[in-house]
Amino acid sequence: MSLDAYIAGLPKAELHLHIEGSLEPEQMFDFARRNRVSIPFDSVEAVRAAYDFSNLQDFLDIYYAGANVLLTEEDFHDLAFAYFRRAAADNVRHAEIFFDPQTHTDRGLPFGVVAEGLLAGMKRAERELGVSSKLILCFLRHLDEHAAFDALHQAGPWLDRIAGVGLDSSEVGHPPSKFERVFARAREMGLKLCAHAGEEGPPEYVREALDLLRIDRMDHGNRSMEDEALIERLAASQMTLTVCPLSNLKLCVVKDLRDHPVPEMLRRGLHVTLNSDDPAYFGGYVNDNYRRLAEAVGLTREQVTQLARNSFEGSFLDEREKAARLAEVEVYAAKSG
Ligand code: ADE
Ligand code: ZN
Repeated sequence: MSLDAYIAGLPKAELHLHIEGSLEPEQMFDFARRNRVSIPFDSVEAVRAAYDFSNLQDFLDIYYAGANVLLTEEDFHDLAFAYFRRAAADNVRHAEIFFDPQTHTDRGLPFGVVAEGLLAGMKRAERELGVSSKLILCFLRHLDEHAAFDALHQAGPWLDRIAGVGLDSSEVGHPPSKFERVFARAREMGLKLCAHAGEEGPPEYVREALDLLRIDRMDHGNRSMEDEALIERLAASQMTLTVCPLSNLKLCVVKDLRDHPVPEMLRRGLHVTLNSDDPAYFGGYVNDNYRRLAEAVGLTREQVTQLARNSFEGSFLDEREKAARLAEVEVYAAKSG
C-alpha cells in the first residue's frame, strides 16, 4: 500500500478547523444568492484567484468578508454538515471545530442562530456520518477583553454544548496577556482552553499562553522552535500542538513545505497533530495536509501513524472514548502493515 493510500484510510481526528474557513467559493455564491447578499467577486475562479496571501492579515481580511454571506441557522447547519462530509471522506472520526461568534454577532446575528445551526450540523454528522465532534468558541484577539467577556456571556445558554474556548485572529500586537482574565473565567466555568500562539507571534506569546492563559492545547506553536527551553518545556508537559502545514505555506509562515518544522518537532518529542485550519482558503483538507507534508519532508508510515495517535490523545474526548479511537488506529496500522 502506498503512503497516500495508508493516509487516506487512517482513522484520525481534526483539532484545528475554523468552520468559517471551510466556506468553499461555490458555497459562498450559493449562500449569497439565497440570502440576496452581494459579494465582490464575479466568479468562483475570481474568488480562488484572490486567495493569494502574503501573511495572516491578508487572509483574515478576505475570510471575514466571506463570512458575510452566512445569515441563517440553515446556513450554519449547511456549512458545518458540508465540512463533516468532506472530513468523513478523509476518515476523520472526530473533529473539534472553532467558530468565531463575534464575527457574526457584530453583524447583528443573534448568537443562537450561529450556535443552533452549527450544533444541528454536528448532530446530523454524528447520526449520518458517524463523525463525533466538539465545538470551541474562539475570541477574536484584535477586539478587546470586554468584547470577549460579552461573547462568553452571550454563549451562556449553549455552554453545556460548547467544549472550550480559543483565541484567534491577528496575532502580532495582541498577546495572550490581553485575555488572561476572560480565560480564567472560562476555566472556572469548566471549559477547555486553547489559543493560537507562535503562528506569526514570538515565542514569548507561547509562554504567555502557557503561563497566563494556562491552556490545555496550543494552536500552531511553530515559533516555539526558536526557543530551546520552550521546546523542552512543551515536550516535558506533553502539550499537544495543532499544526497546519498548508496554512503555514499559504500564509508564508514557511517558505517551502520542505522547510516545515514538523520533523524536528517530532524528533524533539513534541505532541504534534496535523490539521487543515481553513481548508477552503488554503488548498486542502486534512488528508491533503498529511500527504503534502509527508511528500515534502519524507515522513515515514510510523511517523504518520504517530500523528494520528496524537490527534486522538490531544482531543477533548474522555479517556474511554480516546482509548476506543486509539485502538482503531492500532487495528488499522496492524492490518495495513
Ligand atoms: N482565524 C482563522 N484562521 C486563523 C489562523 N490561522 N490564525 C489566526 N486566526 C485565524
Ligand atoms: Zn487557526
